[in-house]
Amino acid sequence: MLSSLSLRPRKVLEIGTHIGTSTVYIAAALQRLHGDGLVTTVDIFDVDDPKQGAWKEVGLRKSPADCLKALGLSKHVPFQVGSSQDYMRATPERYDLIFLDGDHDAWAVYEELSLALPLLQENGAILLHDFYPGGNPIRSNGHAIGRPFRAIARAQKEDPAIQVLPLGELPWQIQRGSNTTTLALVLKRG
Ligand SMILES: C[S@@+](CC[C@H](N)C(=O)[O-])C[C@H]1O[C@@H](n2cnc3c(N)ncnc32)[C@H](O)[C@@H]1O
Repeated sequence: MLSSLSLRPRKVLEIGTHIGTSTVYIAAALQRLHGDGLVTTVDIFDVDDPKQGAWKEVGLRKSPADCLKALGLSKHVPFQVGSSQDYMRATPERYDLIFLDGDHDAWAVYEELSLALPLLQENGAILLHDFYPGGNPIRSNGHAIGRPFRAIARAQKEDPAIQVLPLGELPWQIQRGSNTTTLALVLKRG
């Protein structure tokens, strides 16, 4: 499954900017891989708002845009304020990688998946956050979010060409001594 994928993406769409953690990492990876490349990041809220942005609420010193500026990564990141669904319905762009990390409600993930699949370039893939296979815990803390799994299960029932590859164990630690990630690649065969 992995061999045909575009694992050196140049055009990325991110759904769910929030405090910009993943945006910064993706932008840094684009810079390192290509020296160019774009990660368009969409959030329903204005994440850079000086008073109400999530970065302010969690006590960070910099907004996502200011972090990117400080790291010399601004050129990689167009910000979009609005709903993921509206953006994906309207955009004429196609992407190598679409990272779904917005609303984790089962219906929202199902809808975003349906909108995202046609936006993929050939050999492109979706990266889904909080995918717990079977809706079960994958770490010793017993925590699980079942809704993204349910969304994918429904999509696969309707279209068996949809494949999911949970990334499982990574070579580096993620949190609380665990290497197990809830990231999963999703793509459509053929
Ligand atoms: C889990 S956070 C994203 C975390 C982010 N990727 C990071 O690393 O900091 C989810 C974000 O999705 C946004 N969101 C929720 N529903 C959305 C929608 N329908 N369209 C766009 N963004 C949405 C929320 O406002 C929130 O900022």
